[in-house]
Parts: sequence; C-alpha cells; structure tokens
Amino acid sequence: MNVHDTRLLMELQSVSVRFGINEALKNIDLPIHQHEICAIVGDNGAGKSTLVKVLSGYMQPSGGSIVWKSQDVSISNLRAANALGIASVFQHPEFCENLDVAANLFLGKEISKGRWKGFMRDDSAMYTRAKEVLNELSSSIRVASSMQELSLGQRQTVAIAQTLLTSPELIVLDEPTAMLSVIQTAEVLSYMKRLREQGLSMVFVSHDLPDVFAVADRVIVMRLGRVMGDHKVKDTSYEEVIAEISGVIQPNDLTSAGVKAARNSQVNRLRTQHKLIERALQMNEEA
Ligand SMILES: Nc1ncnc2c1ncn2[C@@H]1O[C@H](COP(=O)(O)OP(=O)(O)OP(=O)(O)O)[C@@H](O)[C@H]1O
Ligand SMILES: [Mg+2]
Repeated sequence: MNVHDTRLLMELQSVSVRFGINEALKNIDLPIHQHEICAIVGDNGAGKSTLVKVLSGYMQPSGGSIVWKSQDVSISNLRAANALGIASVFQHPEFCENLDVAANLFLGKEISKGRWKGFMRDDSAMYTRAKEVLNELSSSIRVASSMQELSLGQRQTVAIAQTLLTSPELIVLDEPTAMLSVIQTAEVLSYMKRLREQGLSMVFVSHDLPDVFAVADRVIVMRLGRVMGDHKVKDTSYEEVIAEISGVIQPNDLTSAGVKAARNSQVNRLRTQHKLIERALQMNEEA
C-alpha cells in the first residue's frame, strides 16, 4: 500500500522563534501531510527541539502562522494540541517507577466512575483501555507490569501508547530511538510503521540517519534555525542529507581527498547500520 498521501494535515508558515537576540527558528515553512512519517534531522542547535515544542503547543512562536486542516490555529498548550489531534513524546519520557504500566499510561488522565465521578478511579476501565492501546501497537507488554521491569525500548513503547489515548492524527516524537539497541530500535520503528498504516502522521526528530531512511517518507534538514532541504526519502541520499546538515550545499563540493575519504567512510558506516536496522525490522515483522 502506498501510504504517502499528499493532502496537507498541518502547515507551519514562516514560523519564527526568538530567545532574546537568538533566533532559534527563522521563517520556517513546513508542510506535514496525511499518513506520512516526516523526519527532522540536523546538527546540535539546529532548532529541532524548538520546532517540536511549537508543534506540540509547549511553546508559542514569535511570528508566522500555524494551519491545522486548513484552519489558522494557535496552540496555546499541550492540552490544546491534544484537543486538535496532536500528541507528543518528548525525549527521555518520565514515569512513576513504583506504579504499573496501566497507571503510568493514565497519569493525570485517570478515568473516574460512579456517583462520585472525579473521586473514584475506574481501574477496570483503565486496564481495558490500556490493553487496547498496547494491542493497537501489537505490543506484548503486560499492563500489570511494574515500570521498573521494562527495558528502555519498552518504556518508549509505553510513551507512544500513551499518546494513543487521545486518538491523535499527528504524533510528534523527539529522538524516540536515542540510546536504544538495534532490536529495540526496530521495535519502535515497526510501531511507527504500524501507526502510519492505521492512517496517522508522525513528525520524527532523529540524529540517526539509518532510522530515518528505514521508515520516513520525507526528511527535512535543519541548520541554524533554517530549513536547508525537504526531500522524499526515496529521492535523496546519505551524501545529500549529510552535505545539507553540515552546510555544504553541493555534496560534490567536498573535494579534498581526506574529506572525501572521511565522508565515504561515514556513508559506508551508515549504510551498514541501515542494513542492520532493515534486517531487525524484517525479523520483527515476521515474528
Ligand atoms: N530556552 C532557551 N533559551 C535560549 N536559547 C534557547 C532556548 N532553547 C533553545 N535555545 C537555542 O535555540 C537554538 C536551537 O536549539 P534547539 O534545542 O531547538 O536545537 P536542537 O536542534 O534540538 O539541538 P540538539 O540536537 O542539541 O538537541 C540553540 O541555539 C539553542 O541554544
Ligand atoms: Mg534537541
């Protein structure tokens, strides 16, 4: 199935964010399509996390506009983003270690029951819904497990499952595969693919180009607060993306033999890593 859909879901138009004299985002134009995994890559300080904060309602832009399903919107906080259909997983999600998975999924959003609605927690409804969202991901995590028992990859899965409680149309993920092993990475990437098949869109910030090339439909390259490139993944290459990340616009401008050799060895390393991820993804999908 061709999941890439060219209908717009959301668009940032000339969005800027200033911190005093420092401009973290400079006139960013960013279309996000339906049923698309849109990756954001760039070096440290490029503005990726600032962009995530704007998309998720955590931070308001200093200028420009945000269009959600053809309507101009202002997203004043995370709750307003949830109400529109946007949910976010920030880097290093935090949990209550002494509580179980179901309780962590519903932290701050507990379901109540009975005459004293608001005072009595409905544990059985929360367990049922928790199982449903984990099933949507085909995850084998048990809702009664304590958070302490979970691996880093499983914790990331719980964070993604948490976003599904608000039935979002767009999930914004900041570095969801950072610090994960190849197997755990493949697990998280396969959940992302599954959610795209169910019709969701995702914005996926990552430092790991092989992860991006394995699952994303589009890759946006940022540098010093600007968008340097916006490519369909199938039409670009490691060479082009690395050149844009580092500010060398033409990949072939890297002419000296030493730089060329370094670039080739970097690209070969990324390609090897890419093969490993693809293989792990395939094993995960066959399991
Ligand atoms: N709260 C803040 N106050 C002042 N400057 C900030 C603030 N947050 C970010 N910046 C600056 O904005 C720029 C973009 O930062 P941002 O964190 O968005 O980059 P990034 O691409 O996420 O980098 P990294 O890969 O290191 O996470 C940087 O120059 C950073 O120093
Ligand atoms: Mg960041």
